[in-house]
Amino acid sequence: MNQETNPQTAAAMLKKVSRFRPKLAIVLGSGFHHALEALSVDAQLPYGKIPGFPKPTVEGHAGQLYFGALGSTPVLVLSGRTHFYEGHSMERVTFAVRALAAFGICDLLLTSAAGGINKKFRPGDFMVITDHINFMGTNPLRGTTHFVDMTQVYDSELQKLLLAAARECKMKLRQGVYLAVCGPNYETPAEIRAFATLGADAVGMSTVPEAIVARQWGLNVAGISCITNPAAGFGKKSLSHADVLETAERAGKSGANLLQHFAKLYGEDDQ
Ligand code: HPA
Repeated sequence: MNQETNPQTAAAMLKKVSRFRPKLAIVLGSGFHHALEALSVDAQLPYGKIPGFPKPTVEGHAGQLYFGALGSTPVLVLSGRTHFYEGHSMERVTFAVRALAAFGICDLLLTSAAGGINKKFRPGDFMVITDHINFMGTNPLRGTTHFVDMTQVYDSELQKLLLAAARECKMKLRQGVYLAVCGPNYETPAEIRAFATLGADAVGMSTVPEAIVARQWGLNVAGISCITNPAAGFGKKSLSHADVLETAERAGKSGANLLQHFAKLYGEDDQ
């Protein structure tokens, strides 16, 4: 491992940028960047300046790391992520998570956009991830002999906090299983019918590699998806990235509000 790809090197740099030592990190996926409006920023750094962090190339993913406080809770925020479909290796896609673990983060909240497979879900809904199905055809731990237990990837205490946060802001919060595909194409209706049979409630192109690596390093993980569209074959329209981003944007303020309440409850819980 050279210095560029050593998560300790990135973590050491993060420790120099801010005196904040948050325990909670939040990865902001499509639409969730509105959470930054409520963040009292202590320091920020573009991913390009952090050794080993790949720069996202997809619209809607900024590529900035922030130290700040949501309310009075210190947080480390990753605004934007890189995806496997952008052509990065799994090691690169999950590098930030290993850097966060090396930095001392304990709890990781992963946010994303996803297509709704569960027939009850509507665009603009939010779903707490209760479990996942890795359908990406590869694994970020490949090449290691880490036989990580996946019985409970998504921490039940963090899930409870998310549900409590949703009650506080009077938001309906769905719960369900996230199935991750490689992308970048959207699915065929036949694939979606198959995924429904497998027990998936939502489908997306991220989150799972990060969650797996976070569990490898012992972080507690939580996930929320903004349901941006009915999955392929379930809606009247064909799918487009522009429509996904538009719905994510429209729902963004509610998502940001949920994150703010979650951070507040997290801070209270931590006292
Ligand atoms: N499929 C996969 N990823 C997605 C979708 C979808 O329908 N919507 C948002 N991200």
